[in-house]
Amino acid sequence: MHQSTTRRRFMAATGALAAAPTLQAVDTRPAMLGGKPVHNGKFPKWPVFDKTEENALAEVVRSGAWFRGYGKKVDEFETAYARLTGAKACVSTVNGTNSLYTALNVMGVTAGDEVLLTPFTFLASFNVILRQHALPVFVDSDPESFLLDPAAMEGLVNERTRAIMPVHIGGSCVNMDGVMPFARKHSLGVLEDACQAWTAQWRGKNVGRTGTAGCFSFQASKNLNSGEGGAIISDDEEFIDRCHAFHNQGRSRRGPGYKISGSNLRLSEFQAAVLLAQMTRFDEQTRTRSANAAYLDSLLKETTGVRPAKTYEGCTRNAYHIYMMHYDQRQFGGLPRAKFLKAMNAEGIPFRAGYASHSNFEFLRELPKDRAFLKLFGEKRLQEWSRQSFDLPKFERVCQEHVWFGQNILLAERGVMDRIAEAVRKVHRGAAEIAKA
Ligand SMILES: Cc1ncc(COP(=O)(O)O)c(C=O)c1O
Repeated sequence: MHQSTTRRRFMAATGALAAAPTLQAVDTRPAMLGGKPVHNGKFPKWPVFDKTEENALAEVVRSGAWFRGYGKKVDEFETAYARLTGAKACVSTVNGTNSLYTALNVMGVTAGDEVLLTPFTFLASFNVILRQHALPVFVDSDPESFLLDPAAMEGLVNERTRAIMPVHIGGSCVNMDGVMPFARKHSLGVLEDACQAWTAQWRGKNVGRTGTAGCFSFQASKNLNSGEGGAIISDDEEFIDRCHAFHNQGRSRRGPGYKISGSNLRLSEFQAAVLLAQMTRFDEQTRTRSANAAYLDSLLKETTGVRPAKTYEGCTRNAYHIYMMHYDQRQFGGLPRAKFLKAMNAEGIPFRAGYASHSNFEFLRELPKDRAFLKLFGEKRLQEWSRQSFDLPKFERVCQEHVWFGQNILLAERGVMDRIAEAVRKVHRGAAEIAKA
């Protein structure tokens, strides 16, 4: 009592009391119900660019050397990306999909083989396996991290299984301590789909260097971006030599001869020039995302109903392409996720749902009727595959319960993280009303 009187006197004396009515007038109604949004909806634009990109592109235009065979930018980028990731070698490609395609070919994954991977990924991860006429064998998820659960691979290996594809979704590392011993036990290759995980690290080592190789995407939304682009890294230089040959119609860079058949998957000098320019900001952007993610983690830990997805202790750096969270509907009085997302969007915070279940893809459901797959695998195996692939309860739960937002939001000033947490609290308080709306 005494304390509050003293405070009031102090505030009156300093004029602070005059500001109080404004504070009291703060609109606590959810924006979805006509209240004032917590945030104005403005976030850092992506991509970030300036004269560095413009000059780099102009330089290539003026040089007339637009193809990697004539210029030096692609070579320069590959050297720089190998250095950035600590890998012994790197080859770039037209995009992430084709870096996976190249690496799978070089690993010898071919028609009639099987590859283990999570279905909680962008569909390119399994499309490339299917294009090889190999079977993507879907593994259940760890519902805490949303990533492949190594323990769930048990029982899925047969004589056709050639490889595991751990996908480091959102930039968070798959539990490689579980993947690698399993791969060694069954003599399987490990192709890391690191298309969302530039410089993420497992136990201090960049992703792509624990398995046989790692593939990256530089598509427009990505943390390192040239509109389209991709790369493969590995500590096995011979492997990258073979990838290099594959991406260049089978021509070896180590001398004459066509040892393997390949394709044209070369990055252009323009893309490499943009990537080199983007790399000048990459470290700082990575630090900003990490710091903001850590801060938001700490805020959300004290916020009911939404909590960050687990990052394993072995993941010594998360690349934060996506900030991933659990949404617990029960803690919001049963408010369905779709309504929660709508309410958050109305608050100016672009939370959204990411991947839906792979059972939505007709081409996967119809695979047991595909003529080529029937020839290669037989009806019995495809029926068994279908039963197993669409019966992944933990993965289905992840599809229903996750919410996320993209990397550019983590480039915002710290106060925006406070507003994100405040918006969650506001929607939590108003959940009952929102549910009725
Ligand atoms: C996990 C994953 N794998 C593969 C790809 C394919 O990369 P790209 O779009 O560069 O072909 C992406 C791209 O979004 C991805 O997120």
